[in-house]
Amino acid sequence: MPNPQFSPEGRVAIVTGGANGIGLALARELKARGARHVALADMDEAALQVAADEIGGLAFAIDISDENAVKAMVADVEAAAGAIGLYCANAGIGGGADPDPDDPSSASLETFERALSVNAIAHIVAAKAMMPLFRARRSGWFLNTISAAGLLSQIGSAPYSVSKHAAIGFAESLAYTVRDQGIGVSILCPQAVRTAMIGENPDEELKGGANVDGIMEPEDVAALTLEAMQRGDFLITPHAQVRGYMQAKAANYERWIGGMAKLRRRVT
Ligand SMILES: NC(=O)c1ccc[n+]([C@@H]2O[C@H](COP(=O)([O-])OP(=O)(O)OC[C@H]3O[C@@H](n4cnc5c(N)ncnc54)[C@H](O)[C@@H]3O)[C@@H](O)[C@H]2O)c1
Repeated sequence: MPNPQFSPEGRVAIVTGGANGIGLALARELKARGARHVALADMDEAALQVAADEIGGLAFAIDISDENAVKAMVADVEAAAGAIGLYCANAGIGGGADPDPDDPSSASLETFERALSVNAIAHIVAAKAMMPLFRARRSGWFLNTISAAGLLSQIGSAPYSVSKHAAIGFAESLAYTVRDQGIGVSILCPQAVRTAMIGENPDEELKGGANVDGIMEPEDVAALTLEAMQRGDFLITPHAQVRGYMQAKAANYERWIGGMAKLRRRVT
């Protein structure tokens, strides 16, 4: 059975990390394509209120890795706006640069755990809250904003790479399991996007090579994402080059590690 095709028209959606960046652009794009209600969740309370006022949706100032808070949000949205048809697990954190650039284990375990919690466990938390509802209705969609770093790597930030790989692992399990239940899953895997996450001077700060193929605008990423979901795509790569890198990695893993070592020498 193919992935179902997503239609934004009349949908009720939740977008986490919706106060800023890619999440806010996704919320705007969903509204522009006819979504009925877009609720936003974010820890940045001030930006959240401004965004929710603009979008005209419910606002939840919560930590999206908190299972009870997410379950309560889902119940509130269903009660106020009706059946949720899309959950965008988009909020994420950068994980920071490895304190010792020559040692990927140098970040504290707390840093690894926090990155895993926000960037990966939160997607499991979302599925725990949404799966019973989506399964009962035999419809619904999970969009997980991950990163090209989950398919490839992020030079200089092991917490980010590890957490994004974990998110890919869960999304794959989800996608091949729920496809036969009429539920869609997509993973959004961009390289650099112009948001607060990449800082004010991305060419200076993105030493890990995430901007080798250019920096995309969040609005363009959101539009490409919705188009891909409407086709029913699982993998969404706004930077087209990412698919070529994935193919090169799969074709010859040894060579790919060597290539990454070379790139690392160039960008650090
Ligand atoms: N910007 C990029 O270059 C890039 C590239 C690939 C993937 N991504 C991913 O895109 C997603 C969105 O990031 P962005 O670039 O829009 O960055 P951003 O910093 O502009 O937005 C992230 C939002 O998530 C919120 N957030 C963070 N942790 C949270 C938590 N625990 N609970 C609730 N809200 C939380 C922040 O407050 C912020 O509003 C992230 O998952 C990120 O890893 C970004």
